[in-house]
Amino acid sequence: MTIKDIYDLAIKMGVDADPRGQDGVKKHLERIKNRFEDLPTSKKEEFDMETLENPYSDTRILFGDPTTNVEKVITGIDFDTGEVVLTDRLNEKGENIHLMIAHHPAGGALSSLHEVMDLQVDMLATYGVPINVAEGLFRERIPQVKRRFGPVNHYRSVDAARLLNIPLMCIHTVWDNMGWRYMRDIFETREFDTVGDVMHEIKKIPEYAQAIKFKAGPDIFSGSEKGRAGKVVVGGFTGGTEAAKEIYERMSHAGVGTVITMHAGDEHRDEAKKHHINLVVAGHMVSDSIGANLFLDELEARAVSVIPASGLIRVKRNGGENGRVGSKRKRN
Ligand SMILES: [Fe+2]
Repeated sequence: MTIKDIYDLAIKMGVDADPRGQDGVKKHLERIKNRFEDLPTSKKEEFDMETLENPYSDTRILFGDPTTNVEKVITGIDFDTGEVVLTDRLNEKGENIHLMIAHHPAGGALSSLHEVMDLQVDMLATYGVPINVAEGLFRERIPQVKRRFGPVNHYRSVDAARLLNIPLMCIHTVWDNMGWRYMRDIFETREFDTVGDVMHEIKKIPEYAQAIKFKAGPDIFSGSEKGRAGKVVVGGFTGGTEAAKEIYERMSHAGVGTVITMHAGDEHRDEAKKHHINLVVAGHMVSDSIGANLFLDELEARAVSVIPASGLIRVKRNGGENGRVGSKRKRN
């Protein structure tokens, strides 16, 4: 596969697993196109044309010739200068790695992270929150995220990759969509009596079983094991980063009982408690690993070998219901 083939596969799989559905993604791209067409010529020159085709601003080829042939990748959750130097060291030792794939974005894919948050508006609406209310909840939050990531040194790892001449890409919301869909198919399609039953089910997933051994497994931030679960949703798995904390009040009114999320700050915990929502925090690196693994299996099926690094809990799946049957845990 070339880097471009991997990029195209990522976009395709991200759309296939998108909480907005294929039509929702299409509508999103149409809205971007209309916005672009309404711009004056001077602003059109500044416009990121890739956003007309790729609905994920945080999934990009950051450095490297897209036509480069790839037989081996190194991949993980966070790639900074350290991981780039690590890759160079491994290549010196004869690994022959052609591409680095990070999950968390860097470069322009990080400074524009807020652009993918729109996805969460549609997702909230599927839980029964009116779309106008969902949009209102994110009106303040999205520019807040933009301001938070604005001052960060976005190009640090990209510069390191350029200096050592190793191609680098990041696949963020695409993998998060895939992880979200995997979890949704398990947790939003059946009933759970208690929060403990939800926890029990999470722990059956091999990535989480491994994370527990790393002392970074799932935890209940609000509610208790014996508490009734009510309607379970997989809320905080995709869409850039944490939503506005006000979502819990609205979700509670919309009939949600338990939210499974990757990570949550204390402000979110307090709001969930206040509105009697059970908040199950599944764990960050481990939850990111789920979407990553589903994608990496596809790369391996296309004869690309994968070196897991940087916090990725690599689990290979051999198919079966939700890809869980016949899965085997592996950490190399
Ligand atoms: Fe993440």
